[in-house]
Amino acid sequence: MTRMRRLPALATAVLLCGGGAVTALPADADAPVLPSSIVVSAHRGGSGYAPENTMTSFRNAVRIGADQLETDTQLTADGHLVLIHDGTVDRTTSCTGNIQDLTLAQAEQCDAGYWWTPGQETTVPDATLPHPVRGTGIRIPEAHELFDYVAGLGSADTHTISIEIKDQPGDKSLDVTGMNTANVLVPLIESSGLKARTIVQSFYPPALTYVKQLDPSITTQLLTLGAATPYLAYAVADGQDIISPDSTQSDVTASFVTAAHAAGKRVIPYTPDTRQDLTTTGLKGVDGEITNYPACLLELEGRTHPAQLLPASSVTAGAGPVPPCFAAATQPAAALPELRWPALLVAGGLALGVAVRRRRARASR
Ligand code: G3P
Repeated sequence: MTRMRRLPALATAVLLCGGGAVTALPADADAPVLPSSIVVSAHRGGSGYAPENTMTSFRNAVRIGADQLETDTQLTADGHLVLIHDGTVDRTTSCTGNIQDLTLAQAEQCDAGYWWTPGQETTVPDATLPHPVRGTGIRIPEAHELFDYVAGLGSADTHTISIEIKDQPGDKSLDVTGMNTANVLVPLIESSGLKARTIVQSFYPPALTYVKQLDPSITTQLLTLGAATPYLAYAVADGQDIISPDSTQSDVTASFVTAAHAAGKRVIPYTPDTRQDLTTTGLKGVDGEITNYPACLLELEGRTHPAQLLPASSVTAGAGPVPPCFAAATQPAAALPELRWPALLVAGGLALGVAVRRRRARASR
């Protein structure tokens, strides 16, 4: 689609995102209720069942039957791409400090299973909870280890990798250029043999714009914070392929999904974990769901998974069984900011401005 041909789609997206009904749950909650086409994306490898962003969790996600391995990447002090969510190693490992201040060798000394507790959504360090895989050799992986692993699954394998460039406005480690991680990640993707099965995601639009500049054939996914609607207009104008909203936002409705599809964008929200939240989100017509509990979504789609959801090594280390779904109460829908329509207008104007500037630039060539 050319840039100018996107404009009608943009207008459609902006106009259709005003609201929509939430479909009620069916009476029989045990029956498959979601289409099996919804991509089951294992958030950080499925951190309800294994320590987040480790090769243990990614192998476990494949064993369970997830479709997609979701992860986060950052650069070490000596320029290696590693898989870790936070800007520091404090929450998930036995070490402390900023990942960008550690060499790869130092990061690899950290125990990445240190704070993991089975059945927690994502790791929240709590000294009163069990930590059964401490000292079992789980470490922060390099990004290439994940690509090597998936490539090694063979040419018939269909798993996808969704990898987030962790530039986030407000983060201490924000790279305002949006280029540093992409300059290492894009060559890795291109040499992996998995480019067609890799998605680069970010909350920071300049990082995705730069990925597209480096290689327009790489699929990109815009993560959104707060109300999603304004970001849809931006994703359309800037040529991102997928929009990934916070599933708890009240404007993430069936109408929002319809508008995104009309604009040619897939919708893969994060991070519903309960049976109720996965169902409610799935019934909106989304293309995938990013969840810490991939077996829960598999069940809702009528697909199978192994009875044992924990890696064998964790069971050996004494970890007890975990349920497929997170059992906490449903989160209330996040309140939509009062500035919804002004924000829409600003975003629409921004998007139009981008498109017009590009058209002028092309015309002047
Ligand atoms: O990639 C979707 C989801 O992971 C975004 O949230 O905080 O895990 O990066 P976060």
